[in-house]
Amino acid sequence: MTSNFSLFSDLRNKIETHEAKVMTVGLGYVGLPMALTIHEAGFDALGFDLNADRVAAINAGEKVISYFPERRIADAVASGRFAATDDAARIADMDVILICVPTPLDARRDPDLSYVIRATETIAAHRRPGQLVVLESTVWPGATSGVLKPILEAGGLKAGRDFFMGFSPEREDPGNAVHNTRNIPKVVGADDKASRDLMELFYGRIVDRPVPVSSSATAEAVKLTENSFRTVNIALINELKVAFDAMGVDVWEVVDAAATKPFGYMPFYPGPGIGGDCIPVSPAYLSWRARDVGSQTPIIDLARASNDTAPDSIAARVAAGLMREAGVSISGARLLMLGVAYKRDVEDTRMSPALEALRRLEEMGAACDYHDPYFEVMPVTRDHPNLAGRKSVALHADTVASYDAVLVMTDHSGVDYALVAASAKLLFDSRNVFDGKGIKVTGGPLIKV
Ligand SMILES: NC(=O)c1ccc[n+]([C@@H]2O[C@H](COP(=O)([O-])OP(=O)(O)OC[C@H]3O[C@@H](n4cnc5c(N)ncnc54)[C@H](O)[C@@H]3O)[C@@H](O)[C@H]2O)c1
Repeated sequence: MTSNFSLFSDLRNKIETHEAKVMTVGLGYVGLPMALTIHEAGFDALGFDLNADRVAAINAGEKVISYFPERRIADAVASGRFAATDDAARIADMDVILICVPTPLDARRDPDLSYVIRATETIAAHRRPGQLVVLESTVWPGATSGVLKPILEAGGLKAGRDFFMGFSPEREDPGNAVHNTRNIPKVVGADDKASRDLMELFYGRIVDRPVPVSSSATAEAVKLTENSFRTVNIALINELKVAFDAMGVDVWEVVDAAATKPFGYMPFYPGPGIGGDCIPVSPAYLSWRARDVGSQTPIIDLARASNDTAPDSIAARVAAGLMREAGVSISGARLLMLGVAYKRDVEDTRMSPALEALRRLEEMGAACDYHDPYFEVMPVTRDHPNLAGRKSVALHADTVASYDAVLVMTDHSGVDYALVAASAKLLFDSRNVFDGKGIKVTGGPLIKV
């Protein structure tokens, strides 16, 4: 198919001159940093989100994401070239539209593309010829061409001729101070040359290095490969943790020493399992799609199962350690959990292994309080709505000492670990916080779980 050259060259010129107006659909952990990066690269950026409260907060210049620099949003809004909206009619005025909406799992733990489909239908209802539409949400290989394209072409316009489209996976690492939206290389894939060229040109203006690939399915597969790699390696290191522990070997010391090998090894660290809306979800998308096309992914599936049970395994080791070290039964024990976010320094509890372990410990009869500087009050989560409303316990020496044990699940910085080390009766550490930071534990014994 040949592109309509004037539509193509008009958009190319607008991108080259930074006159292109760009919309991100979805202003979450991925879409908002992307919208700001687009604005900071010199484009007019508009974020579209269905959540009117979030739109209002962003337009009021509120920080919204905890690890953002204090005035990043406020300065962008004040420039007059960045705003948020919940008005879908603004889509018609855009030149480039990036879709950054959730792609969770459904109740059967199969891919749920309903947000992507709804967002694409909204775009289809308001768009005009000559726009570039890029999906950034994680999907299975073939979803951009198989699910998005038919919706966008339903009105008679043809992809690659009347409008342009492709897939570019997000690699956002929330809270990472070194690798940000701008300096993380960005894979771009499309099924026709005109779309590929426009994507490479556009992302080349936004990020330091676009990485073009030959199709949208290839770009989709890149994302699933990266996250499946992490899934498998996290399962592997957690398996080694337990095996080495039984051999009297400290896995963290092993990993640090192994990481000195300059080739063929990349360190992964043990922990209480995986969380967030990204790493646990992508391998499920890959596995589902593999089955769909008559293939299979047994290694990934085993790793997923292992990661899914990691919080339960931690709970079991805490119960055993409590009895062994203190003669305290888990049933009736009072525990304090440090950190409920799914990872360090983010205010995000989605699919957090900490919450899963908390649920399991309480199922075993423990009473489990928590401390998390990011959550004064426990938010509503899809998997653990019944925990919502609980309050974070303030860290004072006498409070810490009043619990049978303290369990570190998330290694947030800014927590007074020295106070905990000096006052806890018994410490369970799933993140190697104390040894890792060189904090001497003088309260009760330290058990790495
Ligand atoms: N969070 C991460 O670390 C991360 C990293 C890489 C990739 N991803 C992927 O990026 C995608 C987005 O994830 P996220 O973490 O930003 O999600 P999020 O839940 O933080 O944000 C999604 C936003 O989209 C909005 N939204 C939902 N449906 C919409 C619609 N039809 N129109 C407009 N707005 C809509 C929601 O209100 C919400 O504000 C997912 O596919 C995820 O797997 C996430």
